[in-house]
Amino acid sequence: MQRIEIQQIKKIKHLYMYSKETDCVYNRQQHQGVNTPIYTSTANRYIGYEEILYPRNFNTENQLAIVEKLCRLEQAEAGMIFSSGAAAISTVLFSFLKAGDHVLFSQEIYGGTVKLVVEEFAKFNIAYDFVSGAAMENIGAMIRENTRLIYTETPSNPLLSVVDLEQVSRVAKKHGILSVVDNTFATPINQNPIALGIDIVLHSGTKYLGGHHDLCFGVVVTSQQLKDAIYPSALNFGGSLNGLDCYLIERSLKTLALRVEKQNNNALQLAKALQENPAIGRVYYPGLPEHPNHAIAARQMKKGFGGMLSFELKDTSRTAAFLNRLQLIIPALSLGGVDSTICQPATSSHASLSEQERQEQGITEGLLRLSVGIESAGDLLHDIESALA
Ligand SMILES: Cc1ncc(COP(=O)(O)O)c(C=O)c1O
Repeated sequence: MQRIEIQQIKKIKHLYMYSKETDCVYNRQQHQGVNTPIYTSTANRYIGYEEILYPRNFNTENQLAIVEKLCRLEQAEAGMIFSSGAAAISTVLFSFLKAGDHVLFSQEIYGGTVKLVVEEFAKFNIAYDFVSGAAMENIGAMIRENTRLIYTETPSNPLLSVVDLEQVSRVAKKHGILSVVDNTFATPINQNPIALGIDIVLHSGTKYLGGHHDLCFGVVVTSQQLKDAIYPSALNFGGSLNGLDCYLIERSLKTLALRVEKQNNNALQLAKALQENPAIGRVYYPGLPEHPNHAIAARQMKKGFGGMLSFELKDTSRTAAFLNRLQLIIPALSLGGVDSTICQPATSSHASLSEQERQEQGITEGLLRLSVGIESAGDLLHDIESALA
């Protein structure tokens, strides 16, 4: 029954393409109500039905409603919703990799993904290399005969470096290997890796897609063929999501374009103002013309440069005091929500690295990573300036 409805609705796509703002809101799976009803059954009739409805089969109505929206936003054919970003990442990697394979990862990726690689790959005899930002330009030279996949993240965490996705996809295609991008920081509003030739896009939906610091989920979107290749492993690993959370995601997605637009604008305003502040050293934001990868970012981030920025306090001894004195911006680890949050990577997200490793990556003691929310930019700036004073 559900399948037929979705097929019928898909035909509409060819008649008229809506903008992202509309795709965030408009529910193409038509029900009597405006929203998808919350569907909680785990036992479903099978006689007379082609497909068995079951949450771990990634095929319930609530799961499909958000997959449909995210596929439109990411210009993908098919996808799946997972119980966390980590579940999405591990499922994708382990569905394609086998003993003897090799993977290239860009160096500046989420710490949890690094841990997954370092702690799990050796058990399965999978080799890997981490490629530094500058070397990404010459990634073709690092491909081995057994390289199966290139995995990257852009903008990166916490230094907001930008990887040229068209270049990565060109190299991957030339060598017949898969390209995977974690698009969490950019969001599908600002950046669509599939349109740039990338094969698979992942999200920690826990961040911008959920957007209110109250949901944990992951997303994979790709071609129908690659989704079919990932699906059997996804079924075995079992990282699916329940209907209640899916319903909340559907609600969050309605405001995604609005939230991201505000966060883009706020972040750009703050980055410009922080650059002028004598107490602040370097500001890292791909929207600033001074950012080393600004030209690539301007080419591939179509609507804005995102809500994440980092900056360094000149006097690092004041970092703890500065964080304590903030009234509005919350020292907290996660990101992408409507509330602005800030963290010191050296003592939080990147604390597990040695001091030398942090230095090599440019993560200083005074570096602070700000996730800009939807409050007034003036109030956020006032909060930072007051805490610095
Ligand atoms: C860029 C990025 N990817 C993936 C993840 C993992 O997502 P989750 O925490 O939803 O498992 C995170 C979490 O912080 C992240 O920042």
